[in-house]
Amino acid sequence: MSKVYVFDHPLIQHKLTYIRDKRTGTKEFRELVDEVATLMAFEITRDMPLEEIEIDTPVTTAKTKVLSGKKIAIVPILRAGIGMVDGVLKLIPAAKVGHIGLYRDPETLKPVEYYAKLPADVEERDFIIVDPMLATGGSAVEAINSLKTRGAKNIKFMCLIAAPEGVQAIQESHPDVDIYIAALDEKLNDHGYIVPGLGDAGDRLFGTK
Ligand code: PRP
Ligand code: URA
Repeated sequence: MSKVYVFDHPLIQHKLTYIRDKRTGTKEFRELVDEVATLMAFEITRDMPLEEIEIDTPVTTAKTKVLSGKKIAIVPILRAGIGMVDGVLKLIPAAKVGHIGLYRDPETLKPVEYYAKLPADVEERDFIIVDPMLATGGSAVEAINSLKTRGAKNIKFMCLIAAPEGVQAIQESHPDVDIYIAALDEKLNDHGYIVPGLGDAGDRLFGTK
């Protein structure tokens, strides 16, 4: 069963409040999403493997630790996921970035894939899928399907706000994929929007609509 981690760090919760607030304009919304993505990346990388090396400090020789060079790929679900990529790259600058394009059909709420481009060495990488919203879970489940079909073995899913329905959808379809969220909200409304949520993440990030 997928584990669910809710990052309740005060800085994350504070910034999330202003992300949710409808008075927050595009520029500030984009900056806040970027900042929260960085803070979440700090938490999500806690289990990164280390190896010991020997270095000379100005004082002596010391055995110290560095990252063991695990290959990472960040995969935003287009388009709103793009808003989280730079924030994660600030902490993992050598990561490759793949893209999966999905939109929710407004009638059926089902995801439709229109684009997929991943790093060539899919089987050797650990993947972090990023998307601000996990609503019905349709997009996330489809993105994970898409990665697995192309050979990905180790996948984490990271979002700002999740609905219980979306968490359950990932857990049922992909019990091997752990879920990292900043807030678990109450429910979905009749249009598939998260309540209380933040509205349409893509439109708020890019100033559309
Ligand atoms: C939003 C959001 C997720 C999806 C979540 O994208 O960014 O990808 O909806 O909903 P789900 O869990 O019910 O699938 P949207 O389809 O609005 O596309 P956009 O990013 O292009 O705005
Ligand atoms: N997609 C969004 O952008 N917001 C929601 O609340 C649900 C899906």
